[in-house]
Amino acid sequence: MSFQIHSSCANTSARTGTLTTAHGEIPTPIFMPVGTQGMVKTLSPDELTDVVDARIILGNTYHLYLRPGLDVIRKMGGLHKFSTWDKPILTDSGGFQVWSLAKLRKISEQGVQFANHLDGSKTMLTPELSMEIQATLGSDIAMLFDECPPYPCEEKYAANSLGLTSRWAQRCKDWHVENAAKHVPWMLGTEHAKLETHQRQLIFGIVQGSTFADLREQSAKELVSIGFDGYAIGGISVGEPEHEMIRAIDNAVPFLPTDKPRYAMGLGTPPQMLEMIARGVDMFDCVMPTRVARHGLAFTEDGPIHIKNKAFEFDARPLDETTHPSLQKYSRSFIRHLFRSREMLSLRLLSLHNLHFYLRLMAQAREHIAAGTFETFKDHFIKRYTKN
Ligand code: GUN
Repeated sequence: MSFQIHSSCANTSARTGTLTTAHGEIPTPIFMPVGTQGMVKTLSPDELTDVVDARIILGNTYHLYLRPGLDVIRKMGGLHKFSTWDKPILTDSGGFQVWSLAKLRKISEQGVQFANHLDGSKTMLTPELSMEIQATLGSDIAMLFDECPPYPCEEKYAANSLGLTSRWAQRCKDWHVENAAKHVPWMLGTEHAKLETHQRQLIFGIVQGSTFADLREQSAKELVSIGFDGYAIGGISVGEPEHEMIRAIDNAVPFLPTDKPRYAMGLGTPPQMLEMIARGVDMFDCVMPTRVARHGLAFTEDGPIHIKNKAFEFDARPLDETTHPSLQKYSRSFIRHLFRSREMLSLRLLSLHNLHFYLRLMAQAREHIAAGTFETFKDHFIKRYTKN
């Protein structure tokens, strides 16, 4: 077993657990900072460990396949060695990035052909190739190659798309069982069937089905019958209103096994994550904390602040009183000055602070679930955060 549940909330579906991977244990609920190109933008692996307390980061198949490419990754011994990040890594499969970044997409049973966003040249991703790339990267958790339907979406399109994702899911699983040990750096020379679950690369399914309850149920059931190490809920945060996002989770979770981790892809704001934890979600990733940092936004317990704001010109306080001790000494006034002067350090300080805020929120959620006080904590946090 790679996932162990430690405590469950009496009033909500929140739970704490430990997910064991080849590169270490991950306490859940957890937030995964996004390192699209192999590392989180503007930060170093040491900072991610020492300041952010990141336990796992996310890398992208689509980007790393296009650049630097598999030859470099293979010769450099996989993504852990290449990047020097020696803790767990989850890789997204490329399905979503093809959908959101590439042009001239042609979806067929075989896979997706597209003009890539770097030089426009024709590129093809298939379920098997996505798994091969993720195995070569050597991520601890690989995601199946899926199709993410747009929002809004006709029911017929969503149903056909889901069928394709389920068939691709089986192909991903088959490829993984047969071939992972030939490509995953630390599995080379071993036999898949002889390894304990946590010694091999884990593989997660992705529930699709857009906004349709029966399709979410069908997708979850089809993936569970194939059998994965964890289950993500995809196709959310694609432009739908927040209540639809929450409905998508509510429509999928009851059909997922309680003893496997659940992952909401591409989420979210601090209140959204707490609402999802209350619904039994264990894992999150989102570009938001680092992307908005580069636009001058900092998370605080009283809601987000824009550091460019004139109100902070003479503000000697840190970004938030809960920020990491190493960031306490920087005043809002100084960071505002750096940001207005387009100094790189402001982007780095804001990125560190925002990720620390997200990881701290997860640690607080875990503590409160274990202590039986999660629901009160969630309600107080959201009330204060949204007050202004
Ligand atoms: N990231 C955010 N949403 C999705 C999704 O639906 N599929 C994949 N593969 N990645 C995502």
